[in-house]
Amino acid sequence: MTFDRAIKIAPSILAADFANFGAECAAAEAQGADWIHVDVMDGHFVPNITFGPATCAAIRPHIKGVMDVHLMISPVDAYIDAFAQAGADILTAHVEAGPHIHRTLQAIRAAGCKAGVALNPGTPASAVADLMDMVDLVCVMTVNPGFGGQKFIYMPAKIKSLRDMIGDRPVHIEIDGGVDPRTAPLVAQAGADVLVAGSAVFKGGSVQNPAPYGENIRAIRTAAEGVWT
Ligand code: DX5
Ligand code: ZN
Repeated sequence: MTFDRAIKIAPSILAADFANFGAECAAAEAQGADWIHVDVMDGHFVPNITFGPATCAAIRPHIKGVMDVHLMISPVDAYIDAFAQAGADILTAHVEAGPHIHRTLQAIRAAGCKAGVALNPGTPASAVADLMDMVDLVCVMTVNPGFGGQKFIYMPAKIKSLRDMIGDRPVHIEIDGGVDPRTAPLVAQAGADVLVAGSAVFKGGSVQNPAPYGENIRAIRTAAEGVWT
């Protein structure tokens, strides 16, 4: 993975057809997705259950590019090797998931993955201030994690603080939750470069009719990039 701050659209397969993940990932990439965002939920850290490392391993051969795995689980450490072996490029753990996030991030890098740290909407940017040399990505949740299709929570000051904290380091700012063509420019302006979008990408399309995925991705990208032109 090479680093850049260009806008990247990362469709979340939480909004895809669960019976057809492989084809959904391939369709999203063919329609212009930069990364594929994979939401792992345990019914404990968040009030919903999705899937684990075996499903990630099954999806992996259908993704040509970056597999971005968002772990909404607690505890995390015991599962890092399994997700790394499943082929994750990025493993993101929540700062709220346990008392030892620094150890978790060390373990993620030791397993050969890029390390991400995610912050819930109620967690201040300062919670990750001492982790900037430990991470490749900071994920700002703009919904309370657990479900797709929720209302966007506007938090530009947090994104700007993180952007200042990152400085010149090669660290992405990812936004997750409620991203659509209306909210994308707000977060891009504040300093985000990776935009996760579930419902706003997969709405209106299917594996049989994937063109709407492309239209949806282009609409989000154009809206976000408009900030810089
Ligand atoms: C929420 C997940 C998100 C979610 C985004 O817990 O982490 O990735 O799928 O979905 P939308 O884009 O529908 O808000
Ligand atoms: Zn996510």
